[in-house]
Amino acid sequence: MNLSDLFMPTGKTLHKVVVGQSGSGKSFFLEKGAKATLKQNENPNFRLVYFSPKQEGFIDLLPRDRKKRPIGLVGSVDEMLKNMEKNTLTVFYPDPSDLEETMEDTINSLFDMKDANPEMSCTLIIDDAQVFLSSRKQASDGFRRLALLGRSRSLNAIFVSHGLILNKTLEGQVDSLYFFTLPAPVHWKAGEERYGFNPAPYVNDLKSTPYSFVGFDVRTGSAKMFSPIDSDKN
Ligand SMILES: Nc1ncnc2c1ncn2[C@@H]1O[C@H](COP(=O)(O)OP(=O)(O)OP(=O)(O)O)[C@@H](O)[C@H]1O
Ligand SMILES: [Mg+2]
Repeated sequence: MNLSDLFMPTGKTLHKVVVGQSGSGKSFFLEKGAKATLKQNENPNFRLVYFSPKQEGFIDLLPRDRKKRPIGLVGSVDEMLKNMEKNTLTVFYPDPSDLEETMEDTINSLFDMKDANPEMSCTLIIDDAQVFLSSRKQASDGFRRLALLGRSRSLNAIFVSHGLILNKTLEGQVDSLYFFTLPAPVHWKAGEERYGFNPAPYVNDLKSTPYSFVGFDVRTGSAKMFSPIDSDKN
């Protein structure tokens, strides 16, 4: 399991899940990782979209125009599509009303874009993904499409959440999990059933080192403890 692969869909990679309680370091990890990925990226057809219902994060990664306004900060699907024509990174802060519909449009528009641009690969980071994918509710058509067809279209999602995402739609469609400090033990059994990962052996280490995390490769069943992302590194 390689951290640099997190953001780069290859046609073989599946979706990712990043989980941890509020303040555990998920956004910090994703922003540092995205920044490094964008810096190294040489693929002109790669696109990264960060979708944040809370309307925060990733803004410091955007380039600025002459008036110091961020280039690539959008509030609608149309703006997203326009930005993606030219720019690698899009930061989407959706209007809180119609969130679910906007998410649905976003997913379907990315598929349309892929159809029109077969060379494109795209990662969609969905922060607060529990808003859309609860274990009780059936996933929307868009999420089912993303879960099932994302891999073959080089369209991967990174689901970021405060609790384990247990929605059935993602079963068999996730290749890596990143656990920061963990949700209540009540979810662990379900996590083991869904992903084959039991966090129990790592809980003490995670607690004693703030912002550390466990990476779990769902396909091989191997887990690895990671030190906190270095805050001084750019
Ligand atoms: N590796 C790290 N080193 C130093 N500081 C960190 C690290 N990771 C996170 N922090 C600090 O901890 C704070 C909370 O982290 P972060 O915003 O990443 O949490 P989060 O898991 O995304 O929380 P939420 O679920 O509420 O969005 C941030 O202000 C950040 O500066
Ligand atoms: Mg966050």
